[in-house]
Amino acid sequence: MAHAYPAPIAGRHPGWPASLGGLRVSAGVVALRPVRLRDGRTWSAIRIRDEQYLAPWEPSMPGGWAQRHAASEWPARWLQLRGAGRRGAVLPFAITLDGRFVGQVMVGNIVREPLLSAYVGYWVDSSVAGRGVTTAAVALVVDHCFGRVGLHRLEATVRPENLASIRVLSKLGFRKEGLFRRYLDVDSAWRDHYCYALTVEDLEKTGGLTTRLVMEGRAERV
Ligand SMILES: CC(C)(COP(=O)(O)OP(=O)(O)OC[C@H]1O[C@@H](n2cnc3c(N)ncnc32)[C@H](O)[C@@H]1OP(=O)(O)O)[C@@H](O)C(=O)NCCC(=O)NCCS
Repeated sequence: MAHAYPAPIAGRHPGWPASLGGLRVSAGVVALRPVRLRDGRTWSAIRIRDEQYLAPWEPSMPGGWAQRHAASEWPARWLQLRGAGRRGAVLPFAITLDGRFVGQVMVGNIVREPLLSAYVGYWVDSSVAGRGVTTAAVALVVDHCFGRVGLHRLEATVRPENLASIRVLSKLGFRKEGLFRRYLDVDSAWRDHYCYALTVEDLEKTGGLTTRLVMEGRAERV
């Protein structure tokens, strides 16, 4: 059967901007909303404090970590994300926990016909890690992408050493599809990454990832 990409709404791509959630997990109530200009100070404070925890998993970029994550860098990043969101290339969500900014989940590289595909990436403040925040955030974003956004496939690439991220994807039922050799320059070297993926068909029986988390007792809708 042919799939049609939903028609753009008022010049924007479907499903954006959006606010998703909340889902109660052991850490508190997780919700998603578009990143905001005023997230800069919190974003910078977390990212600079968490350099050792984040840098091993993120693409290498020119410039020092502290310089790239200064609060003064956020407005330009935010403008870029907002523009790309409006064009339909990305869905740049902030993750909030009990209303506080604690990380980001980003749907990127959105390709429309014929693929209807994108990748999902994420990070969260180390001080709230291990309590279900990212699992809930990714569940919300996957359901949204396969619902209002109208995508067919979502991929996540992860270094084999990143056991926490692999666990997030496994809990959500992402399928390990292969190993991309020297895929991404991370932490100053070209690193192998596993490719995990889901397609709409994978969720037809379960009724979505949010429902799956609720049924498993990992989250509660609020
Ligand atoms: C990966 C990351 C986003 C996970 O966020 P999180 O909010 O802690 O995720 P959750 O709490 O929903 O799930 C993490 C799971 O991994 C498990 N885990 C954590 N560290 C682990 C480790 N070293 N080995 C095995 N499992 C681990 C947790 O126990 C939890 O599983 P459980 O629910 O069965 O107990 C977070 O660790 C992070 O931001 N890391 C740095 C950036 C990053 O790696 N981004 C992803 C790049 S692919």
